[in-house]
Amino acid sequence: MSSPHRIAVVPGDGIGREVTTAALRVLDAVTAAHGIALQYVSLDWSCERYKREGAMMPADGIDRLRDFDAVFLGAVGAPGVPDHISLWGLLIPVRRAFQQYVNLRPVRLFEGVRSPLRETAEGVDLVVVRENTEGEYSEIGGRIHRGFPQEAAIQEAVFTRTGVSRVVDAAFEIAKRRRNYVTSATKSNGIVHTMPFWDEVVAERAAAHGGVRWDQEHIDALCAKVVLQPGRFDVIVASNLFGDILSDLTAAVTGSIGIAPSANLNPEREFPSMFEPVHGSAPDIAGRGIANPVGAIWSAALMLDHLGHPEVGEQIVAAIAAVFAQTSLRTPDLGGKATTAEFTQALVDRL
Ligand code: NAI
Ligand code: MG
Repeated sequence: MSSPHRIAVVPGDGIGREVTTAALRVLDAVTAAHGIALQYVSLDWSCERYKREGAMMPADGIDRLRDFDAVFLGAVGAPGVPDHISLWGLLIPVRRAFQQYVNLRPVRLFEGVRSPLRETAEGVDLVVVRENTEGEYSEIGGRIHRGFPQEAAIQEAVFTRTGVSRVVDAAFEIAKRRRNYVTSATKSNGIVHTMPFWDEVVAERAAAHGGVRWDQEHIDALCAKVVLQPGRFDVIVASNLFGDILSDLTAAVTGSIGIAPSANLNPEREFPSMFEPVHGSAPDIAGRGIANPVGAIWSAALMLDHLGHPEVGEQIVAAIAAVFAQTSLRTPDLGGKATTAEFTQALVDRL
């Protein structure tokens, strides 16, 4: 056995805990077979903790994560705690403190999974590369005249040359390992300062990656094309907000948001990267044992890839594909009756 990879596990809230349990079961099964050692440290950082102690994580939370090889997160969010508190109290600080500027969100229509788009979705296999540290999700702004008729809120979008260049470079590098095609999501017709700047930097960086075909689409038209011709896309690079919205859309196109995985990557490996399903804590189905675990399990596969075991990550994705193609086992979000545990067991058996 090689020396263990140290993983901070944050199950979080709602179905976050259920899908994390499922993902760790799959990880244990597959790593044992390959002599890979993972050492988990579980952290109870969550809305439960917020209700108890007034904070999603301890004051030195970021420092406590710093020496891990990766962070594995379920989801955070609970009724009674405002969503901006749960998001800004844990997830966004981790993404920023660890410069996880690439939010990688692969999307694939698995054989045997029905897309709501019966006519157009065949062969969808794309990756959304979302900028994850700046853009529209900025802390610059404020509220004034609270409670008065003239109350106002201002929020500035912040796009830096460093921030745009590095995520666009990452998108082009990813495209070189796929089908050599990048689409940039923009809105430079309506948003007149930041988006023309985004376009300029994209064009500049594209020139440095000869051999990769690229184009750009306004986000509204792009949404329509993702519905009408999702199969034509390979890598879509987008700002923080556009990438967030697009990846829920692309996930839905391939059957369910419950399938979609994500990696928050610090490509320089100066800091730990974080892996989590795209979905949230789903309070509407939490506690019933019926959450689709695939998003979390596929995220675990992305984590193995990042930790230097791409072939093992691939094996997990192949097992997911095989269960979909060869069995009728589906969780309710995909029209079936299987529980989280039953689906997970089928995967473990396959592995
Ligand atoms: P959500 O993703 O939790 O749920 C949206 C819909 O999809 C719900 O109907 C839910 O039942 C369904 N769904 C989601 N994941 C599923 C799965 N694995 N299997 C089956 N069905 C699934 O998004 P929503 O409702 O907007 O947010 C709920 C809470 O989660 C909020 O507090 C929100 O802030 C938080 N959230 C947290 C995220 C994170 O931790 N990264 C991301 C998105 C939302
Ligand atoms: Mg989202």
